[in-house]
Amino acid sequence: MKAVILVGGLGTRLRPLTCNTPKPMIPLVNQPFIEWMLLRLRDQGISEVVLAVQYLAERFRHAFGDGSRLEMKLHIVEEPEPRGTAGAVKNVEHLLDGPTFIFNGDVMTDLDLRAMLAYHQEKQSKVTIALTPVEDPTQFGLVETERDDRVKRFLEKPRVEDITTNLINAGTYVIDPEVLRYVPPNQFYMFERGLFPVIMQIGDPMYGYSTRAYWTDIGKPQTYIDVHHDILIGKVKYDFRGEQIADRVWVEGDATIHPSAQMVGPVVIGNGTVIGRGARIIGPTVIGPGCQLGTDVSLEGAILWEKNILEEGVTIRNSVLGANNTIGAKTYLTDGAIIGDDCSFGAENRLERGIRIWPGTILGDKAISF
Ligand code: GDD
Ligand code: MG
Repeated sequence: MKAVILVGGLGTRLRPLTCNTPKPMIPLVNQPFIEWMLLRLRDQGISEVVLAVQYLAERFRHAFGDGSRLEMKLHIVEEPEPRGTAGAVKNVEHLLDGPTFIFNGDVMTDLDLRAMLAYHQEKQSKVTIALTPVEDPTQFGLVETERDDRVKRFLEKPRVEDITTNLINAGTYVIDPEVLRYVPPNQFYMFERGLFPVIMQIGDPMYGYSTRAYWTDIGKPQTYIDVHHDILIGKVKYDFRGEQIADRVWVEGDATIHPSAQMVGPVVIGNGTVIGRGARIIGPTVIGPGCQLGTDVSLEGAILWEKNILEEGVTIRNSVLGANNTIGAKTYLTDGAIIGDDCSFGAENRLERGIRIWPGTILGDKAISF
């Protein structure tokens, strides 16, 4: 069984986290998101995967090569120019045979792929679209189905007045590659606005597969935070790496934790991290590898990437810190603050309420009290 993962797109909405890192490579609990996804596919019997990338192919090649490290076969194919979701699959058609899974590369789900494939076969479907309920379908592809689940209407980014169901395209498809004959070659073409409406017109069997599996699009800062929290509190099936050293406290590799530090799980701590005296780490929190947390640092609902230095008395709550930052003493990051990479903040700054700081920003002492 083969799969194509669509990993184009600039990840604009996730900036500044995606300024230096393509969206699929941003860490999810200290592991590139796409790596988690590849392992999930492998473990569900999909051992050959095509990554359809648009840019930064080198980053993916460097991380995964031909896939042998992950014990799978990987093809990394860069498009000459953005081909759109269906055009990207058309571009790798020569690598496909038989029913194939297609994944949007920015969706976190624990969907049962074997069950979805069985459903596709049972229905003798040509295209099966996983569906998930959401509160506000306007940001997604709305999918209306008949009583037997056959797709009746597909409406990408519907207007409020066009909303007739809360079921949307969850960004996982099983397709019979023969439907790619409707996709014009060497052109920008979308599943959502092109192929799906065409298939409906032609009348080929296309079904919606609706489940209650965990599902989130990780493409926005708040959902990036939410997904971490959901994984850590156990809302989604997830195998933690590392060793559990206390109730829901996992350490990946070696970490040095001062005996006076207080920890309330769920917390994940990366390899080589040092946690100082009097620190308070309250879950759900993820601390990347190679971080140094000074005396009395306080974290709650924090997501830290690698190699951050937090000086004495820093507080981080419900916020994300990219890689290689130095945060001066008694600085506060709270309420959805998103900090890029390589920043240096002086002491006693306050960054709150969804503030976003671009990579390389330097702030003196008390420079921001938002
Ligand atoms: N290779 C390649 N080339 N990949 C692409 C291209 C392209 O030209 N354009 C988009 N992608 C990838 C993106 O990287 C992403 O993984 C996926 O295709 C979907 O694109 P998004 O830009 O994230 O679309 P969206 O989130 O607005 O909407 C899509 O996903 C929703 C579910 O999250 C649609 O498929 C909606 O119908 C769906 O509900
Ligand atoms: Mg998306």
